[in-house]
Amino acid sequence: MKVTIVGAGAVGASCAEYVAIKNFASEVVLLDIKEGVAEGKAMDLMQTATLNSFDTKITGSTNDYSKTAGSDVAVITSGIPRKPGMTREELIGINAGIVKEVSSKLIEQSPDVTLIVVSNPMDTMTYLVHKTTNLPKNRIIGMGGALDSARFKYRLSEALECPPSDVDGMVIGGHSDTGMVPLTRLATRNSVPVTAFLSEDRLNQVAEDTKVGGATLTKLLGTSAWYAPGAAVSGLVQAIACDQKKMFPCSALLEGEYGLNDLCIGVPAILGKGGLEKIVEIDLDEAEKNKMKESAEGVKKTNGLLEF
Ligand code: NAI
Repeated sequence: MKVTIVGAGAVGASCAEYVAIKNFASEVVLLDIKEGVAEGKAMDLMQTATLNSFDTKITGSTNDYSKTAGSDVAVITSGIPRKPGMTREELIGINAGIVKEVSSKLIEQSPDVTLIVVSNPMDTMTYLVHKTTNLPKNRIIGMGGALDSARFKYRLSEALECPPSDVDGMVIGGHSDTGMVPLTRLATRNSVPVTAFLSEDRLNQVAEDTKVGGATLTKLLGTSAWYAPGAAVSGLVQAIACDQKKMFPCSALLEGEYGLNDLCIGVPAILGKGGLEKIVEIDLDEAEKNKMKESAEGVKKTNGLLEF
């Protein structure tokens, strides 16, 4: 199992570390355009191998895509992150060019790869990869919902004053401050709906805190977060690499599912060796359907800024 991560910045390196620690991949290639950075981070990470008990071989490359040949899964984190006060959508100008170039170079070396797009604005970048490459649709997946759901569960656990592991829940919709749809109605604490414990006002507050989860961290850190994003991506990589058939909300190309067409947006999906093997359609109530529709309009507006 060979995994490539393009962009050895904060999220890419964090993802490489989690993949290595989980010890399921034989090889991880970190690639970056900045001279020496990927090699340096790969070496640093390899020096944790005996400390963290993993056998994954991590190597770095400065923009030499031949090193990525034969990758089963490749993660695209290359591009610029947002600074305090910026929206993810504002990154489109620079990141679209980078994502387009990187995805085509990856596919040249690994025609059967499954691509996981992380660079923001992620739903639009995932759509761009669908439109500009000829990979089958199940092999292009956007990561956002897995992270947003982890943030949602954390916020719920705070409100419930319980360990995060007691909580289950999901965020669907666009990966943006206004587009996320946290499914509070369906969230549970050990199978008991959270609505049994928390008032509607408190749940609305949890949903709002979740939606601005990334912005809150960006304000504190001066750049966007990396631990939870890296961990979330590594979960998707593992589900594909180990054929786990695990369900995550992922940005998928919709062709009628949820009444939506011709965009990528977060919906529950099963991941396994076939990449995104199945989109799961759950019954949404009217309010959730409306939020999903509004979210899709937002994503489509950003997609409209793309130049192919
Ligand atoms: P970063 O600035 O730490 O790392 C980005 C790396 O990409 C840099 O090392 C840079 O040299 C490299 N790069 C730029 N152009 C390249 C090219 N053409 N080829 C190869 N490498 C190239 O940024 P960070 O924090 O790692 O974020 C990366 C991206 O991920 C950003 O767009 C950010 O908004 C996004 N992000 C998405 C999340 C999600 O849930 N989808 C969560 C967190 C970040």
